[in-house]
Amino acid sequence: MTEAKKLYIKTYGCQMNVYDSERMAEALGGSGYVETQSPDDADMILLNTCHIREKAAEKVYSELGRFRTLKQDKPDLKIGVAGCVAQAEGEEIMRRQPLVDLVVGPQSYHRLPQLEAKAREGKKALDTDFPVDDKFDTLRHRPKAKRGPTAFLTVQEGCDKFCAFCVVPYTRGAEVSRPATRIVEEAQDLVERGVREITLLGQNVNAYHGAGPNGGDWSLARLIWALNDIDGLERIRFTTSHPNDMSDDLIAAHGECEKLMPYLHLPVQSGSDHILKRMNRSHTAESYLRVIEKIRAARPDILLSGDFIVGFPEESEADFQATLDLIEEVEYGYAYSFKYSTRPGTPAAERAQVDEDVKSERLQRLQALITRQQRKIQDAMVGRTVKVLFEKPGRLPGQMVGKSDYLHAVHVTDSSVQAAEIASVEIIESGTNSLGGRIVAR
Ligand code: 5AD
Ligand code: SF4
Repeated sequence: MTEAKKLYIKTYGCQMNVYDSERMAEALGGSGYVETQSPDDADMILLNTCHIREKAAEKVYSELGRFRTLKQDKPDLKIGVAGCVAQAEGEEIMRRQPLVDLVVGPQSYHRLPQLEAKAREGKKALDTDFPVDDKFDTLRHRPKAKRGPTAFLTVQEGCDKFCAFCVVPYTRGAEVSRPATRIVEEAQDLVERGVREITLLGQNVNAYHGAGPNGGDWSLARLIWALNDIDGLERIRFTTSHPNDMSDDLIAAHGECEKLMPYLHLPVQSGSDHILKRMNRSHTAESYLRVIEKIRAARPDILLSGDFIVGFPEESEADFQATLDLIEEVEYGYAYSFKYSTRPGTPAAERAQVDEDVKSERLQRLQALITRQQRKIQDAMVGRTVKVLFEKPGRLPGQMVGKSDYLHAVHVTDSSVQAAEIASVEIIESGTNSLGGRIVAR
């Protein structure tokens, strides 16, 4: 028997890249690769990259440079770039960094086995097509290995919304939904392998409209209801959503569907109508707030999170203040905030840019507000009893950590708790990054 080749994958960026990396490892499993946690003993290194903000590509080039000595010591080592930088830069990557043997985009990685074989022949292998064949059809048969209690599952990819700052419509392509039956099958398979919580992924996941089993399209809500029927699956989440696609059936599911967790990531980006218009967001601050109101009417305890961009071109102090006002009104449990980053080829790149100092100062103010809100919501959990899905041992002896229904990290010190167990936990303390609790019921 020949010894297995070793594959090291480094993942940057979003949860979909985490999912894609898993699928890439499985695809190369068929070519005799097993995963390793260290680049030093790898026969193949894959960087699964992100292009959402500036310097992402630069980071990839500097990381690649670090593999030079490795490749000198081991000429058979193959180096590949996958993901959104691969899609955006294509062949340019091999020109700039001749160490690279293989470049593969997010829609063509099911062809990795062929690309790997080509690279093994000493040829450069490149595939950044948007093929008509569905990569997940080719990758249908997943290995049966046991896995941890949580998993991601891509249900929708790409985006047709063209926000003026965003590269996603160019790197991930047009919006495509996977057929509902395939998703249900994949979820069942994950559950058989030990998964208890599934997070459905899509760049515009709530725009999901996949083919149903008997013709006609299913909405995300309909898909969630179908997944709700899978025995052994205990929790369903989805990310990331657009405010305009929060349909009534999805909002209702938040109130009625038992396994759908009370957490929603609903990015708004800005609280200024002028900026929202310039961002091509096709919603206003007011319409966003009305959606939140409806969601809270359906599920009063839902924990909300959002994404914010500060310093978008033309953003005035008053525009920024409108964002702070919106945050004050919503009260977020989590938020991800970014300085606007110029992306060549997107409409906003051509406009008058805000000074870097102004961006930094606004980001600080916004993050201070968010931290206060986050802290307040987290502290208010003390004294409450919440369900926790335990995932792994914590840093301290006898400690186990997991996530509450609201996605708060929770730790308990109780050596009888097993990974993958769901227990009721009374929250007794609120720390910087997690809540501490004690088990009250199994
Ligand atoms: N600059 C800064 N942040 C961006 N995002 C997307 N594009 C940019 C950009 N050019 C942020 C948005 C989005 C999140 C995934 O990344 O807030 O919701
Ligand atoms: Fe990018 Fe806007 Fe599409 Fe989200 S909705 S992926 S921010 S273009």
